[in-house]
Amino acid sequence: MSGRLSGKRAVVVGAGQSPGDTEGNGRAISRIFSEQGAALLLVDRKGESARETASICAGEAHVLEADVVDLDAGDAIARAANELLGGIDILVYNVGVGDRYDGPSDRLTEEAWDRILGVNLTGARRCFGACLPVMRQSGAGLIVAISSLAAIAPSTMFAYSVSKAGLDRLVQSTAYHEAANGVRCNAILPGLMQTPMAIEGQSLRRGIPRDDLIAERAKAVPMGHMGTAVDTAMAALFLASDEARFITGVLLPVDGGSSVKIA
Ligand SMILES: NC(=O)c1ccc[n+]([C@@H]2O[C@H](COP(=O)([O-])OP(=O)(O)OC[C@H]3O[C@@H](n4cnc5c(N)ncnc54)[C@H](O)[C@@H]3O)[C@@H](O)[C@H]2O)c1
Repeated sequence: MSGRLSGKRAVVVGAGQSPGDTEGNGRAISRIFSEQGAALLLVDRKGESARETASICAGEAHVLEADVVDLDAGDAIARAANELLGGIDILVYNVGVGDRYDGPSDRLTEEAWDRILGVNLTGARRCFGACLPVMRQSGAGLIVAISSLAAIAPSTMFAYSVSKAGLDRLVQSTAYHEAANGVRCNAILPGLMQTPMAIEGQSLRRGIPRDDLIAERAKAVPMGHMGTAVDTAMAALFLASDEARFITGVLLPVDGGSSVKIA
């Protein structure tokens, strides 16, 4: 298949999605990478959701059910990628969770802190650690991590924002150390997006009707509307393509101007 990712082997971790009316970031990234010619390994703790993603992909798409919290998850992913795709050119770490018990330190529970840091940050380190040797073997590779504007903006979700700030540092340290090995590493920082994780998730957590939440979030964005998962996926596609071959260590906001407003 021809396309901007023709011949590339991509692993998308967090390739399923939360239930809802719109497309999630992981599903959109997988769909668009597939349309652009990449062969895919779709990883998610919810195998059924990853299989739904595979069903809308245009080409080769394998599914691995794995939870990044498991100690051997990174190794299992690298092994499956070697066996099914013959290597890894692109790793997308899209997994990210919030928790209703996240908040300022007087409200934040130990369990919420451990869960969020474990999934969003430790899981990423584990996947990077296991996949990097496979990329180094071919002398080239790319990691894209889906971070969040919460990494650089004031947030009441302490654990979530700390996990994403940590992820950004992991990305930049990896970029620096892997540059000589031909491996690039970048992060995307989505702002206010219209995805199931954000809309259906928050509407439930905060007890706000869906339409009111959408209007509130749209008003907060300088461009006057939220982004979609396709906006995140297009940024990932650019970073994954050869057009971005000299770009590494970048934290790219995809946010309709929200980060400029914060600054
Ligand atoms: N949607 C937004 O508004 C928004 C804004 C900023 C950042 N982000 C970031 O974007 C990323 C995800 O967006 P999305 O729309 O695809 O979310 P999503 O919830 O729809 O998809 C995430 C997928 O990750 C999977 N997952 C969760 N924990 C896992 C684990 N322990 N092991 C394996 N898989 C696991 C889920 O099953 C789900 O299929 C996250 O990193 C999130 O922090 C989203």
